[in-house]
Amino acid sequence: MPQTILRTSGITKRFQGVAALSDVSLEIAAGEVHALCGENGAGKSTLMNVLSGVYPSGTYEGTIELDGEAVGFRSLADSEAHGIVIIHQELALVPQLTIAENLFLGSEIASRGFIDWHATHTRAAAALERVGLDENPSTPVSELGIGKRQLVEIAKALSKDVRILILDEPTAALGEADSARLLSLIARLREHGITCILISHKLREVMQIADRITVLRDGENVETMHRDEPETDEGRIIRAMVGRDLDSLFPPREPLIGDELFRIENWSVGRPDAPDRHAIDDVGFHVRSGEIVGFAGLMGAGRTELAMSIFGRSYGTRISGSAFLHGERVDVSTVQRAIEHGIVYVPEDRRGHGLNMFTDIRTNVSAVALDRLTRGGLLDLIREYKIADAYRYKMNIKARGVTEIVGNLSGGNQQKVVLAKWLFSTPDVLILDEPTRGIDVGAKYEIYGFVNELAAQGKAIVLISSELPEVIGLSDRIYTLAEGRITGEVAREDATQERLMHLMTADGAGAR
Ligand SMILES: Nc1ncnc2c1ncn2[C@@H]1O[C@H](COP(=O)(O)OP(=O)(O)OP(=O)(O)O)[C@@H](O)[C@H]1O
Ligand SMILES: [Mg+2]
Repeated sequence: MPQTILRTSGITKRFQGVAALSDVSLEIAAGEVHALCGENGAGKSTLMNVLSGVYPSGTYEGTIELDGEAVGFRSLADSEAHGIVIIHQELALVPQLTIAENLFLGSEIASRGFIDWHATHTRAAAALERVGLDENPSTPVSELGIGKRQLVEIAKALSKDVRILILDEPTAALGEADSARLLSLIARLREHGITCILISHKLREVMQIADRITVLRDGENVETMHRDEPETDEGRIIRAMVGRDLDSLFPPREPLIGDELFRIENWSVGRPDAPDRHAIDDVGFHVRSGEIVGFAGLMGAGRTELAMSIFGRSYGTRISGSAFLHGERVDVSTVQRAIEHGIVYVPEDRRGHGLNMFTDIRTNVSAVALDRLTRGGLLDLIREYKIADAYRYKMNIKARGVTEIVGNLSGGNQQKVVLAKWLFSTPDVLILDEPTRGIDVGAKYEIYGFVNELAAQGKAIVLISSELPEVIGLSDRIYTLAEGRITGEVAREDATQERLMHLMTADGAGAR
């Protein structure tokens, strides 16, 4: 048995008196990949924040031992000095700065008081090579996709002499290819003796990479299992997470599809950074009432750009093309107009576009449909409260109440608030962009249930998802997108992962 590098005993962490972690004991073996699983709000991120000094010693009960010695971290910098580095659920790079600047932010290489750019670039290039990222260190981070940003974060961690690397949902926002690359990087780090703690809701990748798996439920450690034990499989992890079996990943549904509700024709969008180049090139699609239409594509295929450009030109320049509702042309040129026509876009990036982190659940839910709560010029506060509370109950949002500040919620629960907010605006056309990103398996089932329910009410649903099983499991019809063009249209019966992958990787121009 390898040595224990890190041990926590009896960790209890309370927020305003409520325990997010109760008496958690955990052993991490040197050189292993240890996965941490659990439902949204189970306490995974909180535990990692305790281990990395984000919550300093004294703000929790219990002890942490590193190499058998009791330690109490005063800050993030303190845990880093001990070789523990955390990469948070929401990435922390500064987009305006270059890769090199981000890598050494806070630990600038200086000689005689000046930043030594030559040394910085040489070291940055070496750091990028370690994670297999072929980019110029002077590239601004804003030009990188999320997969590459993730690698920059890891390169940054590695430049700090990391012994224990904590990754909080690193693949949540990544497509298949980027995820695979990241997992193989983690495997390589393990070969070099780096211990890794990995939080993930993607149980398939947990089974693939982890040596051991610990499941937290309601702030308690319910079980630590070895991957190699014969009875360890995704089912066992799910049972430990939710306390019961989950027979099927998708709720049953009888599609009731009506007439065409929404249509887009000849939609073209210029890239904001290069207006003469197309982000979206002559796209057309339609959605019927009661229909769930999936959009599959690789990272960068243009799915989000398509959705955002339709939703009040929130993305792109030189947008041309037409939108139709029930066969009538509609003006969706501003967000306000799109919403008035009952078209909403639920964004993938909850921090950037979806939520106000500083206000409570209630205010976030009612924000886009305040007129429905206003009588005679007055906001009906009681109704606002009741409606938000009904969503909290229905979507099982883990919070003490709807007056909880959204920034205090766990990542997955924030995602549920985004959904509640847009559902409350009672749209006819709902464009859902990665609606289950960062959502646990049990809650995914609940969200699929809502999506089905909305379809059953006759709404038109567009589903963008990087998880092919999800696209296939929910959609009645699927479009594939590559390089800003539609490369295929597949009926549910004919949809297989292979078929979609083939169309998604097709050259957009050639496939038409
Ligand atoms: N700063 C805070 N103030 C109040 N409550 C908090 C705070 N941070 C976390 N919590 C609560 O602690 C609990 C655990 O949250 P945590 O973020 O650790 O969950 P998680 O397991 O990481 O979930 P997810 O999978 O959704 O990311 C949640 O109920 C959350 O609302
Ligand atoms: Mg979390």
